[in-house]
Amino acid sequence: MPHNIYIHVPFCVKKCQYCAFYSQSCANPDWDEYAYKIINEIQHFGNILAKPTVPTIFFGGGTPSLMPAAIFEKIINAIRDNFALAANAEITIEANPGTITTDKLNDFCKIGLNRLSVGVQSFDDEKLKFLGRIHTANDALNLLNAGLERNLRVSGDFIYGLPGESVTDIIKICDRINHIGISHCSMYELTIEPNTPFGKMNLDMPTNEIMAEMYMAINKHLAMLRYEVSNYAVPGQECRHNQNVWDGGAYIGIGDGAAGRVFMNGMWYEQLGDKKMFNPITDENRAIERVITGMRTIRGVLVDDMVAKIINIEFAKSHPDMLMFDGNRIHATDKGMLVLDDLITKLVR
Ligand SMILES: C[S@@+](CC[C@H](N)C(=O)[O-])C[C@H]1O[C@@H](n2cnc3c(N)ncnc32)[C@H](O)[C@@H]1O
Ligand code: SF4
Repeated sequence: MPHNIYIHVPFCVKKCQYCAFYSQSCANPDWDEYAYKIINEIQHFGNILAKPTVPTIFFGGGTPSLMPAAIFEKIINAIRDNFALAANAEITIEANPGTITTDKLNDFCKIGLNRLSVGVQSFDDEKLKFLGRIHTANDALNLLNAGLERNLRVSGDFIYGLPGESVTDIIKICDRINHIGISHCSMYELTIEPNTPFGKMNLDMPTNEIMAEMYMAINKHLAMLRYEVSNYAVPGQECRHNQNVWDGGAYIGIGDGAAGRVFMNGMWYEQLGDKKMFNPITDENRAIERVITGMRTIRGVLVDDMVAKIINIEFAKSHPDMLMFDGNRIHATDKGMLVLDDLITKLVR
């Protein structure tokens, strides 16, 4: 079975005020030590899985764009040597404005990078400061354009629902995004995570009703289609790596802070990078996971025998305003998407 590869890069120049992702503030880590550990894991999985095909590689973080090009090259070469990297593989890095020069971007492209996910977050420099970002909006626009000029597939990450933001502000953000020329973006509602500076600040957040209005306004005003709760793309430009995760496909998580779902000898394994975990999962639990992630997508979940066993079909059929069957798939309606977590809890037996 093909396995995608996720590689975690757990370093950031500085932690942002809102972020609970696993990363430490460290602009100059020991990259050789990092690469040594990552390559060791790559060899291990290439070996136990007998060199499966790799359709996508995603470097997430943290801040993968901090990585020197020579380290990126070593890691990609190790994947080529230990797996069957698909000729048309999607290779993405998450890139923070202010951490990658055009020379370095050129080097990354030569090595095989073909997709860039830029952390724009906001077009307003005051808001960027408030979020604790290290760059201006202009830096982010320059990086998006540098990616487009190099014919990369370019995505932007944005955070909405900041204290004081209105639906009109969100519509303006969508209009600006429509004019950049990117074919993908992720629109994240600001989540207040407990163990972050924002978690201790008692911020005056927009109400749930306003957040829901913003969510609907994005779908209406962005010139891209929503294909997952927070993700929008020009048709055909969806992130193949994440789509596979949501569809319940196999992927290997490499590096401290990474998670994967590996399929080996007819069994699914829950796996954490840095050799922290490799435990079998029952088919039933894997089916539940597939429902949880698949329902986040607009096309929903394929109802195969395993999924049919763990969902409450009667509940689904009696809530056509929230859940719809489409051939052999089930998906949430627009109304259902607004209460997705609750809906999934009721759908799974
Ligand atoms: C894994 S992070 C890393 C991306 C990259 N380091 C950057 O910051 O540009 C991916 C995205 O998650 C989003 N994010 C992280 N924490 C968030 C939070 N608490 N609320 C909303 N979005 C968040 C940000 O938009 C960020 O770009
Ligand atoms: S949002 Fe990105 S740059 Fe900021 S702390 Fe999180 S991973 Fe690092």
